Amino acid sequence: MNTIQIEDKNFELMIESDPIKKRILLLAIQIGVDYEDKCPIFIGVLNGSFLFIGDLMKDITIGCEIEFVKVSSYEGDQSTGNVKQLIGLPKNIKGRDIILVEDIVDTGKTLNFLIQVIEKEQPKSINICTLLHKPNATVTSVPVLKYVGFEIPNDFVVGYGLDYKGLGRNIQGIYRAIGKTE
Ligand code: IMP
Repeated sequence: MNTIQIEDKNFELMIESDPIKKRILLLAIQIGVDYEDKCPIFIGVLNGSFLFIGDLMKDITIGCEIEFVKVSSYEGDQSTGNVKQLIGLPKNIKGRDIILVEDIVDTGKTLNFLIQVIEKEQPKSINICTLLHKPNATVTSVPVLKYVGFEIPNDFVVGYGLDYKGLGRNIQGIYRAIGKTE
């Protein structure tokens, strides 16, 4: 299906499921070469990365650990503004090689927050693996994104883990909003 509707918004197909799977295999091969004998910890950022990390792990053949974190935002008072909180950070990060697995790097704010928190735990290294990157939307300077599935324009997208109003995460391909972007 080339167009779908979720609630009030229409979306058109941007990346089919097949090229996503092929790209993920290539990322997994590259990570396997770079991290052979390092036993990295993959940390998936929920909810958006759940399908991506699931498929990536099927193609990863080196020894590794897999953990998940969740970023929750809540409104602080006027001085603190929107405060982010990280839930579920594993305890064994010190001295380890970390691969942070994201669905998408958009403004880059979430990623910068995550890295700040993880760095306090003194890992040996941190690299980023993101399925999607919107370079034109990234407003903060982000660290080098070592493993990127696809660079996409500044469109709002759903599917393959990404949602609109909580819906669409289970759609197999990636679809972009037609008309006004969020
Ligand atoms: P950030 O703007 O880079 O901090 O991205 C924060 C989060 O917003 C991402 O991890 C996604 O969950 C969500 N997000 C950003 N862009 C999109 C999009 O186009 N569709 C769905 N979710 C998005």
